[in-house]
Amino acid sequence: MLTTSTAQHAREQELLDRVVRSFGTCPDPRLRELLTGLVRHLHAFIREVRLTEREWAAAIEFLTRCGHVTDDKRQEFILLSDVLGASMQTITVANPARGDATEATVFGPFFVDGAPRIPLGGDIAGPAAGEPCWVEGTVTGTDGTPLADARIEVWEADADGRYDVQYDDGRTAGRAHLHTDEDGRYRFWAVTPTPYPIPHDGPVGRLLEAAGRSPMRASHLHFMVSHPGRRTLVTHIFVRGDELLEHDSVFGVRPSLIRDFEKQEPGTPTPDGRQVEGTWSRVRFDIVLAPGEPEDRRGDG
Ligand code: BEZ
Ligand code: FE
Repeated sequence: MLTTSTAQHAREQELLDRVVRSFGTCPDPRLRELLTGLVRHLHAFIREVRLTEREWAAAIEFLTRCGHVTDDKRQEFILLSDVLGASMQTITVANPARGDATEATVFGPFFVDGAPRIPLGGDIAGPAAGEPCWVEGTVTGTDGTPLADARIEVWEADADGRYDVQYDDGRTAGRAHLHTDEDGRYRFWAVTPTPYPIPHDGPVGRLLEAAGRSPMRASHLHFMVSHPGRRTLVTHIFVRGDELLEHDSVFGVRPSLIRDFEKQEPGTPTPDGRQVEGTWSRVRFDIVLAPGEPEDRRGDG
């Protein structure tokens, strides 16, 4: 950092103090806290890196481009928040470790409301290509109580790394919801997750390129699990051994969410007698919900 003269430091500090004071009359105390905190950190950043006017203009231009590609299908600002780790930090702050409750991770842009309901043991894949994967587990509270009729939404990319919303023909694939049985158990078929890039054809993709960073996400399967009287959980499971676990572009991997997807040789009998040609995999994910009110977690990044 460049050292600044005492007089220059005082000029900068006087400006910051004036801006902070301008929010002093904000009638909403939380809004006042957010705005003054933002101003303090923003000014600290500008002063620390000695921001040039050219760099300021480039930042404005970048944000403008993010705005131009954002619509009701593409949200470049959330993507920006994701690659800066801000989504994951917000989730970390908002979801402190609670007993043995399953940890949360990023929501991502590919959830769709109204995915079809499947029965226990049903298949979420539909036309999504990929190696079949048997997923099973339980949903319980932190006290171990099995949670009957918990709603589980699951969604994932196909073996080519595409979600159905990225197909041209509107088909539903790789997504569904199901409910736990009276003992809190669930099971379904999916496809074994494979790595794929976040949308990187826009300004955030160019930012990653300029920074020499990869847009790839570690292989994962998304879950959103809800039950009355429990905090809604938005999470994924990741594939143990995936070489991208250390380099997930949105920092979503938590060690507690890495699971063994056990490879099964062709001809290995399946849990439900389904005939599978070729290899398949199986994974167990026991989900523990923290106490709290169910809520819409979709704004959480
Ligand atoms: C995803 O998991 O699908 C995702 C998450 C964050 C940004 C982009 C994609
Ligand atoms: Fe995803």
